[in-house]
Amino acid sequence: MTGFARVAVLGAGTMGHALALVHALAGCTVRLQDVRPEALERARELIAAALATLCEAGEVAAEAAARTPDRIAPVGSLAAAVADADLVIETVVEDREVKREVYAAIARAAPAEAILASNTSYLDVFPLMPEALGPRAVIAHWYTPPYILDLVDLVPGPSTEPSVLDRLETFYRAIGKRPVRFARLLAGYVANRLQAAMTAEIFRLLDEEGIAPEVIDESIRHGLGLRLLLQGQLRKADFTGLELVARALANRSYTPPPPRGRSPTLDRLLAEGRTGVLAGRGFYDYGGRPAEELFRERDRKLLALKRAWRAIEEGRGT
Ligand SMILES: NC(=O)c1ccc[n+]([C@@H]2O[C@H](COP(=O)([O-])OP(=O)(O)OC[C@H]3O[C@@H](n4cnc5c(N)ncnc54)[C@H](O)[C@@H]3O)[C@@H](O)[C@H]2O)c1
Repeated sequence: MTGFARVAVLGAGTMGHALALVHALAGCTVRLQDVRPEALERARELIAAALATLCEAGEVAAEAAARTPDRIAPVGSLAAAVADADLVIETVVEDREVKREVYAAIARAAPAEAILASNTSYLDVFPLMPEALGPRAVIAHWYTPPYILDLVDLVPGPSTEPSVLDRLETFYRAIGKRPVRFARLLAGYVANRLQAAMTAEIFRLLDEEGIAPEVIDESIRHGLGLRLLLQGQLRKADFTGLELVARALANRSYTPPPPRGRSPTLDRLLAEGRTGVLAGRGFYDYGGRPAEELFRERDRKLLALKRAWRAIEEGRGT
């Protein structure tokens, strides 16, 4: 069997509610657990909103969408969530001590053969787990929103059985996701590491060169974005010609200094309460529009882009 009948998702925040949805759409029965009842209540609303967007975009059929919420049961107790799970997804706060406690509780309450997948962004979670969990534990790291973005970073720990990774890879590929597999833990995987490098550079442009946010985003969207979407960076390099790539490397026309770890621009925005879309303002002003509406609009546009992209990849419409 490659699929997973019963999945426990621990942590019902930004990622947890969305991962519960991904697995319910794949036909799994999901128990979604959180220590805060209000997180479970909010998760129910977010799942309904995400399903409505997916339905409206034609990604999920109306009958399937109607059945999906019934496959997700909110529970307050971790032991009840994992008791008969085939797959336990840990997506609680990015805090070593909280995760350590959660792993100890999983070891006590989950079936011996259950697979444990952590969604950690940067932590080496394997040393935090009781030894007995090691052979069945992996990192399966997602990107938000995971019901739209398909990349899943799969990373084994030092004692993970290879068949565990095989099984997850086969399952996620079968449900239309794009797993990439690493031989060992790599800080930030690939996508998060590149994002971190780009973020450090962006703050230098803002803080030290006085470049406006609009100019930075225009440059990314209209200069980098389209080709990156189509080709990634290395196929793009092949089209540039590798002699030119080698010359640019040798010229060292720009060598980034070590990141400073903080940004005066960001500090100023935060001090003004401009924390982003949820506050109505961040780098940009969202004109008083509710955050929910802004997220739905983003998701609708992402899905439209994905549809066009899929058609191009399948050779339709080109
Ligand atoms: N937000 C992202 O874009 C993103 C992307 C990929 C991975 N991640 C990773 O996913 C994990 C969760 O991140 P998030 O953004 O969803 O955080 P979040 O703060 O939105 O949600 C975390 C949830 O965990 C709950 N929680 C805390 N302790 C718990 C416990 N002992 N048992 C059960 N639930 C508990 C909290 O109440 C909260 O609802 C982190 O490890 C993070 O690094 C986040």
